[in-house]
Amino acid sequence: MKKIPLFDLNRHNKPLQRQILASWKKNYQKNEFTSGPETVEFERKFAEFCKTKYALAVHSGTDSLIISLKAAGISKGDEVITTPCTFSATADAIIHVGATPVFVDVDSKTGNISPAAIKQKITNKTKAVLIVHLYGIPCDLQEITKLIKEKNLILLEDASHAHGSLYKGKPVGSFGLAGCFSLYPSKSLGALGNAGIIVSNNRSFIQQARMIANHGIKDSQTKYTHHLNGFNKLIDNLQSTVLLHKLPLLPKVIEKKLQITQHYNEAFIKNGMSGMIIPDHCRPSIYVFAFQVKNRDEVKKHFEKLNIDTGVYYPTPLHLQPSFQFLKHKKGNFPNAERFFAQTLSLPIFPELKNSEIKRIVNAIKTIPRS
Ligand SMILES: Cc1ncc(COP(=O)(O)O)c(C=O)c1O
Repeated sequence: MKKIPLFDLNRHNKPLQRQILASWKKNYQKNEFTSGPETVEFERKFAEFCKTKYALAVHSGTDSLIISLKAAGISKGDEVITTPCTFSATADAIIHVGATPVFVDVDSKTGNISPAAIKQKITNKTKAVLIVHLYGIPCDLQEITKLIKEKNLILLEDASHAHGSLYKGKPVGSFGLAGCFSLYPSKSLGALGNAGIIVSNNRSFIQQARMIANHGIKDSQTKYTHHLNGFNKLIDNLQSTVLLHKLPLLPKVIEKKLQITQHYNEAFIKNGMSGMIIPDHCRPSIYVFAFQVKNRDEVKKHFEKLNIDTGVYYPTPLHLQPSFQFLKHKKGNFPNAERFFAQTLSLPIFPELKNSEIKRIVNAIKTIPRS
């Protein structure tokens, strides 16, 4: 029995190889490697996809977060409330702008930040809340946006797992001041290398973000006037070219991953388990299919025996990572987050999975050993 990989970049990228290389040849001939018309078009189309007015494409998802925090005016002395159930880039970005990440516990079913827990941690130093739509499942945006308004805070969304996820029909990334996306190759919309993008409805915010990402330059007419101390973080045009080829395919990617999710979830129900929880009012763009299981190591071995790859996103909540020890958190501080990551396990989910492979995974779900 052939191994079913967790993700297969080759299957995903191969059908696009000819088109992308042909476009890259044009970039090459015109020497459009950094800025270029493809970047302008990709930003316009991605903003349209997210139903926002503006977008700014940058070098990576991490950069999209750092630049957004900076452009939102967050700096030393500020507190930013965030989740421990995420990839480290989310909270690292807060550190990189000199602010303090304030972790709070998560919802036990989705692993997403708990609005009630946010409320408890708001102080007079709190400037922003940085939420993460984990695995593509939207956070409780109704409660969160209500709280943000009430307390006059800034909402930033790390939507790196959630390209095209809808909450009450509205795309995630468009709820706060900024939506930040990683376009890393394995993401539902992925470049051929590192890339990221910020979306926003706020013109002055995006202008500020663009200056930060481009050495403080306001426009091409005053190329050597630097209005602030910025970075060289605008996306490479070659990546915009790739992303322009891939963006039109994204709705189909989302649809296919949702269909596979439904197949898996039905199998979980047949086995008396919950599968991946999708809250009401959401149409998620699933990044990874993740479920909760107490006997995770045993279940991982069950899939291994059947030659099916599994993943753990992520093994350790951030408050227990060595890099955040300076915040002096202890085991037990955020019990839901700790339990959630101790019990999370992911199965292969990508649009190019063959029906025979999906069937094998479905059968394997039906025979998961119970704890
Ligand atoms: C939730 C989350 N935020 C941010 C990032 C950082 O994105 P990048 O790797 O593009 O810098 C990632 C990367 O996987 C992520 O999963």
